[in-house]
Amino acid sequence: MVVPSPTPLGTEKVRAVELPVIDLYGQRSEVSKLIVKACDKYGFFKVINHGVPNHIVAKLEEECLGFFAKTMPEKQKAGPANPFGYGYKTIGFKGDMGEIEYLTLNTNPLFIAERSKSISDDPLKFSCAVSGYIEAVKGLACELLDLMAEGLLVPDTTVFSRMIRDVDSDSVIRLNHYPPSQVDCKDRDTSDSKIGIGEHSDPQILTLLRSNDVGGLEISIEDGVWIPVPPDPNSFYVNVGDMLQAMTNGRFVSVRHRAMTNSCKSRMSMGYFGGPPLQTRITAPPEMITPNGLSLYRPFTWAEYKKAAYSLRLGDSRLELFRTCTED
Ligand code: OGA
Ligand code: NI
Repeated sequence: MVVPSPTPLGTEKVRAVELPVIDLYGQRSEVSKLIVKACDKYGFFKVINHGVPNHIVAKLEEECLGFFAKTMPEKQKAGPANPFGYGYKTIGFKGDMGEIEYLTLNTNPLFIAERSKSISDDPLKFSCAVSGYIEAVKGLACELLDLMAEGLLVPDTTVFSRMIRDVDSDSVIRLNHYPPSQVDCKDRDTSDSKIGIGEHSDPQILTLLRSNDVGGLEISIEDGVWIPVPPDPNSFYVNVGDMLQAMTNGRFVSVRHRAMTNSCKSRMSMGYFGGPPLQTRITAPPEMITPNGLSLYRPFTWAEYKKAAYSLRLGDSRLELFRTCTED
């Protein structure tokens, strides 16, 4: 079974849209305004001149290639993904499926060091590559969150980034591999994309996604309309997550997205999902509540949210469960 999408495959529209690109070399106040604009409109943007060194990305990419090239029995030694470890085709606990294999890890360095033993023949090399990458992208995620707070005129500018900087932050890294949809790919023009990971929003605060040069990521800002995101291995793609939607009182949208397979080439991506510590109470700063004084979501903890999310399908709108009132 394939992950259901609100609009049946085949009846959907694909639209080419120029998506926002944020250049971090720009002037800070200008950059923060552009980021807020992108998050208001799409909950999504691409970031260039991001400061994450190439060699750090290349090191992890090499480890990903090595891991996914292993035989199935070898890879399965790192599984199943419950929620951490190697997963194949099944996503989550509610029967969602896709043409994907992945390795999900908590970002805690000790956890990574321990898990690396069942993932790699050179566990130290693997865990250094993963932890080095996490440190770098965490820095970038924090920078982006501070810029968002500044652009939103929230005086406490580290209000969002503190949560993922916290030693107990419940952040995750996922290495994804989408094998080509055709086994024998002679015809370069065929396009028989399959769903790699079905429509969803990311539950955490902010996602930083980097992929190889094979496309497949699509975002949706309207039901049934998909915008393909051109691949760019030198940039990061940023998704607003559900928690940031809640903490901006619904102003930023947690973008719905999916990944499709390519007919001929393997897509590989690495997602860093910055999340708060489990017991963090998720509320919007007072500045996000004005002017009408209405809080769109009731306060809840990240642990509560995760529990609810585990009981739902990948594509379900989890935040709806926490709404206080509906707009009419
Ligand atoms: C994810 C995701 C997209 C991709 O892992 O949550 O949306 O392109 N991945 O791999
Ligand atoms: Ni996602």
